[in-house]
Amino acid sequence: MPLSAVKVENVFFEDQQPASSDSRAELLSGLRRPQKQVDPKYFYDARGSDLFEQITQLDEYYPTRTEMAILQRHATEIADYCGPDCVLIEPGSGSSEKVRLLLDGVRPAAYVPLDISADFLYESAIKLGREFPWLQVHAICADFADDWHARTELPAGRRVVFYPGSTIGNMEPPVAGRFLADMRQWIGADGGLLIGVDLHKQESLLNAAYNDASGVTAEFNLNILNTINRIAGADFDAGNFSHQAIYNRRLQRVEMHLVSDTPQTVRINGSAISFRKGETLHTENSYKYTLDDFRSLVESAGYTLQKSWLDEARLFSVHFLAARKR
Ligand code: AVJ
Repeated sequence: MPLSAVKVENVFFEDQQPASSDSRAELLSGLRRPQKQVDPKYFYDARGSDLFEQITQLDEYYPTRTEMAILQRHATEIADYCGPDCVLIEPGSGSSEKVRLLLDGVRPAAYVPLDISADFLYESAIKLGREFPWLQVHAICADFADDWHARTELPAGRRVVFYPGSTIGNMEPPVAGRFLADMRQWIGADGGLLIGVDLHKQESLLNAAYNDASGVTAEFNLNILNTINRIAGADFDAGNFSHQAIYNRRLQRVEMHLVSDTPQTVRINGSAISFRKGETLHTENSYKYTLDDFRSLVESAGYTLQKSWLDEARLFSVHFLAARKR
């Protein structure tokens, strides 16, 4: 059993939270780059996870409801691709809302939600375990980009990774390709991957989705400064920054930034980081794929694309990939 683990009825909770000293060092090195940046995983403290839930309900934010409609509509067929008694692994599971659409059809031997936000994950796992008393839930608090897989023991069964929400879109395509290739080690030679990917589309829809009228996305973006303050001992004043989200057409990605409203110097654990007026902290990329680009990405990562499902307006896509046989 790992150092920190608890079991409540059908829910097992394992703590592999990254050391805060590692997070501090990572944050500081991002802030010292010519284009200041922070990894978007730092959005998801308890408050940020909650704000993200609110984003998923916004009229302008089409991805969540579109993907859920696709999952619901094709749940039976998806279950056939997963096969009986699989172990369903979800990196970045958040509230585990989407998997609920699949559980009755897929009937996995176990569900393994992975999330970086410990309290949020714990509550979500307990809630899910109550709703699905027959389901074995094995929740792991970890940065899924770390080596969580080597540090745990999962039940037997075909491994299927469920990676919805276009979370893959946070990574630059070469990094996404390497991550997909790495995931073949999680699933083994006969595993599968059910993945949701946001599609390239009219720019006005993209701009609206990341600049909602009620300002929730702005609050979500600004909240990352509170997280940096807490983890890295910084003194960012969120009142001195503004939300910016723009579609970068050349790179086919939405970029989120925090723009410094004024020249300012922020203290971070003894170091000083200065911002010019208008200088930005780059907080997120959200890549949008064409079907052709996504197909070539997964094929070069060692998968066969077995099936793609789209909504009628072709806003979003869900794919079943199988590790390619040699
Ligand atoms: C969770 C990374 C898929 O990129 O659309 C939502 C995060 N950022 N609004 C996305 C997000 C701003 C979201 N992902």
